[in-house]
Amino acid sequence: MIFSRASSAPRWTGIFLLLSTLFALFGPAVMVKHENFKTCDQSGFCKRNRAFADTVASTSSWTSPYTLDPASLKFKDGQLSGTILKSLKDGEEKVQLPLTITFLESGVARVTLDEEKRRKGDIVLRGDSKARKERYNEAGNWALVGGLETAQGAVLSEKVEEGYTKVYYGLGRLQEAIIRHSPFGIEFKRGGETQIRFNERGLLNMEHWRQKVEKPVEEKKEGEEEKKEEAETENKEEEKGEDESTWWDESFGGNTDTKPRGPEAVALDISFPGYEHVFGIPEHATRLSLKTTRGGEGSYNEPYRLYNADVFEYEMDSPMTLYGSIPFMQAHKKGSTVGVFWMNAAETWVDIIKSKSSANPLSLGIGGHTDTKTHWISESGLLDVFVFLGPTPQDLTRQYGELTGYTAMPQSFAIAYHQCRWNYVTDEDVKDVDRKFDKFKIPYDVIWLDIEYTHEKKYFTWDPLTFVNPQKMHKHLEKRDRKLVAIIDPHIKNTDNYPVVDELKKKGLAVKNKEGNDYEGWCWPGSSYWIDCFNPASITWWKSLFKYDSFKGTGPNTFIWNDMNEPSVFNGPETTMPKDNLHFGNWEHRDVHNLNGMTFHNATYEAMLERKKGEIRRPFVLTRSFYSGSQRIGAMWTGDNLAEWSHLEASIPMVLNQGISGFPFAGADVGGFFGNPSKELLTRWYQAGIYYPFFRGHAHIDTRRREPYIPGSPYIEIITQALRLRYQLLPAWYTAFHEAATTGAPIVRPNFYVHPGDEKGFAVDDQLYIGSTGLLAKPVTSEGKESVDVYIADDQPYFDYFDYTTYQGAGHHTVPAALEKIPLVMQGGHVIPRRDRPRRSSGLMKFDPFTLIVVLDKDGNAEGSIYLDDGETFDYKQGAYIHRRFSFSAQYKSLSSSSLNTKGAKTDSYAKTMSKVRVEKVIIVNAPKEWKDKKHVVVSEEGAKESARRKKVEFKYHEAQGKKAAWAVVRDPKVGIGRGWKVDFS
Ligand SMILES: *[C@@H]1O[C@H](CO)[C@@H](O)[C@H](O)[C@H]1NC(C)=O
Repeated sequence: MIFSRASSAPRWTGIFLLLSTLFALFGPAVMVKHENFKTCDQSGFCKRNRAFADTVASTSSWTSPYTLDPASLKFKDGQLSGTILKSLKDGEEKVQLPLTITFLESGVARVTLDEEKRRKGDIVLRGDSKARKERYNEAGNWALVGGLETAQGAVLSEKVEEGYTKVYYGLGRLQEAIIRHSPFGIEFKRGGETQIRFNERGLLNMEHWRQKVEKPVEEKKEGEEEKKEEAETENKEEEKGEDESTWWDESFGGNTDTKPRGPEAVALDISFPGYEHVFGIPEHATRLSLKTTRGGEGSYNEPYRLYNADVFEYEMDSPMTLYGSIPFMQAHKKGSTVGVFWMNAAETWVDIIKSKSSANPLSLGIGGHTDTKTHWISESGLLDVFVFLGPTPQDLTRQYGELTGYTAMPQSFAIAYHQCRWNYVTDEDVKDVDRKFDKFKIPYDVIWLDIEYTHEKKYFTWDPLTFVNPQKMHKHLEKRDRKLVAIIDPHIKNTDNYPVVDELKKKGLAVKNKEGNDYEGWCWPGSSYWIDCFNPASITWWKSLFKYDSFKGTGPNTFIWNDMNEPSVFNGPETTMPKDNLHFGNWEHRDVHNLNGMTFHNATYEAMLERKKGEIRRPFVLTRSFYSGSQRIGAMWTGDNLAEWSHLEASIPMVLNQGISGFPFAGADVGGFFGNPSKELLTRWYQAGIYYPFFRGHAHIDTRRREPYIPGSPYIEIITQALRLRYQLLPAWYTAFHEAATTGAPIVRPNFYVHPGDEKGFAVDDQLYIGSTGLLAKPVTSEGKESVDVYIADDQPYFDYFDYTTYQGAGHHTVPAALEKIPLVMQGGHVIPRRDRPRRSSGLMKFDPFTLIVVLDKDGNAEGSIYLDDGETFDYKQGAYIHRRFSFSAQYKSLSSSSLNTKGAKTDSYAKTMSKVRVEKVIIVNAPKEWKDKKHVVVSEEGAKESARRKKVEFKYHEAQGKKAAWAVVRDPKVGIGRGWKVDFS
């Protein structure tokens, strides 16, 4: 749901939307309110650091004032430590900055820089602030879950140049970190080649603590006068040229940030020499390959901003911040992918510039390359950066996942279709929508309740007039194994007779204002308090609220949606909390802002685990706000988009970016949240939405109903076809989720990830591969299209999913895409598992038989896999799953299924529940001509009775026709999905 002051007064919303619609007729439609959000220039520390970068760039004799003191260096157990000295004016004491560079077993290096004075708490806070004095150093407590073992193999080089320290590390010690002492800088090499440079441009900047020197003020306290004036003179001398205007306080939109610790920003330039493309740092409505940000043609004027915010009617093609932040960036070129994870939870800005260089200036282009240079700027906290040297995109997603965790394996329903709207208004309405899906034979799994189900916006209550009997509603949904998701937000209504708010206050679990009192702000319920989930006691309390006997009317089929957790505060600066608010441990909100959403999401997840003693199911919790690590908890969506073609188009690169950035369980609101989509747009959005890992239709309260059964013929039928395609391929999707959960690989993948050597395809971001299936989809994202151009990167044949039309040869291929056609092709070389029987929900497909699509590559081979478990519990951790590899070999002319399971305590019992589930059909696409007259194949299965050990099974061959590939069908081989078997085609 959105922030809109107008929305709390429905009449005004109506007028507002009417106006918006009128605007839409004449030009660009509704637009983000830029004035509500800061530009870099309006964000003091960003402005200061950009100005610093400009000064440095225009000063030819510039040297960075940071020097590593060689006498301080120690190297022990894979860790180099020492002190960096920041020089101030001549004769002044240097600022001490403790440095550690940790070399991890995984081949990742971690660089941490702190500030001695703040670390020791040797500073004076202004005002009566109770804030902590240190730079925030707990982001890792939330973001990191592993991968921190230090590398015993890392060694100091014995011979190095004077003024440098060199460490060899990583597999085979092929990686080097060359640390320059003066000025301080680090060069990271792999295989002898420089991949990443720190402080190459000299933009390292750690704003050290200093005492505020008061300007002469009208009303001076007696006795202090002299001292102040003295200091004032000194100050002028010392800080000449520096812009102090935003050091001690800063106002924006009528809110003043009191900054009790003064300026504390931390910034660094990170260069990727030879890399033309950088990806990552979601969430922005931008292209996958990030643009440059310092002006010029085709570039932005603002840095990419990471400051989780409820951005009302966000705009396309913009570096503006959105709801979540993942400060993980990767640079890619042919043969190499490297990256950095800037683990900082404060407001962060990232500038990107690219420069062309040429080996020989006269041979333009030839031998030249592009360098990408980035500038990272955070408001507070440690400098804490992880450096990944690849060399493949798969290495990056795996290593980043080792640190921050892999995607949680969802319940199987969670990857099916979700039907949401603000709002289904009564329990009868819910049942009615449910019945209509059935009437039109449209599959869906989950129906959602937005905020109106509550009694006067009090969470954990039901409106007694509209949701009279939630239990009965649940029973109704359970008949078709469907689920309910209800919204719970972090703002707690400030009102009488509401035990939840009473307990929150009594237990002292609310976020505090700068004075240390409960912070009160404005959100959906009006006056509200916010639960502070940084506090472990808050999690304990939150758990108690979700117990079935506490949150009455919920049951095992109720799941949760966390919205507004940036947090969204309607009357706060930039629609969020004041930065000088205080969280648990007296950390300022400034320090932890980008983590806030994740801590709330985490508390809800933990609560869902303990709703009833002994009942442990995988939670499903959707979040809007997120940070690195949120993937361990649930799914995200891209927030409040618009029912416009441009938003449909942007959803593809946004979802792809989530995938490569470690949080792949992502989707956009199908249909667009604000506004009414045309029938064509709605249809195309469903055809695209079936490729989002998280697939939900959603709509604003002022929009017309638009459930898939609404738009009339032929749209209903076409949308139903799209939904059926998603359901048919659920086994392939579930397998892709499993891969994400165990290797960190994205669920939907951009071209560069699948074809890292294909330079022409690096920026391709309008088509996607589903897991490792070879399925390549290119959704239609503009109006009136009859075809799309699919980009093919390799020389494999690709086949249309529906009619096996062949496309082969690197480059663009035109694929027909009339409204009823969903552009989807299959790369040769894969085996794709699916379930072909149409059902009303995924739960009803649990024991359905499988169809295998064997798509032969140019050499006649194919490989694939399937992962299955009970889709609900954590028993898979004890081996209760089926994981098989399918391979078709041209040489042996056979298709076989072999086990990828690791046996555990529950492997056999699970296999037993699945023992009757079989493969009912095998389709071979690109079937060889020799099979033309074949009528049978021979099937053998492990553990089968003697008589059935080698059985003949019916086979039918279909010749190629024009561009359509030959294909063949093995009809009902009756082999178990969990068993070893072989189909012999010889
Ligand atoms: C939630 O946070 C707690 C406390 O930091 C942590 O122990 C737990 O592992 C987190 N849960 C998840 C799913 O990350």
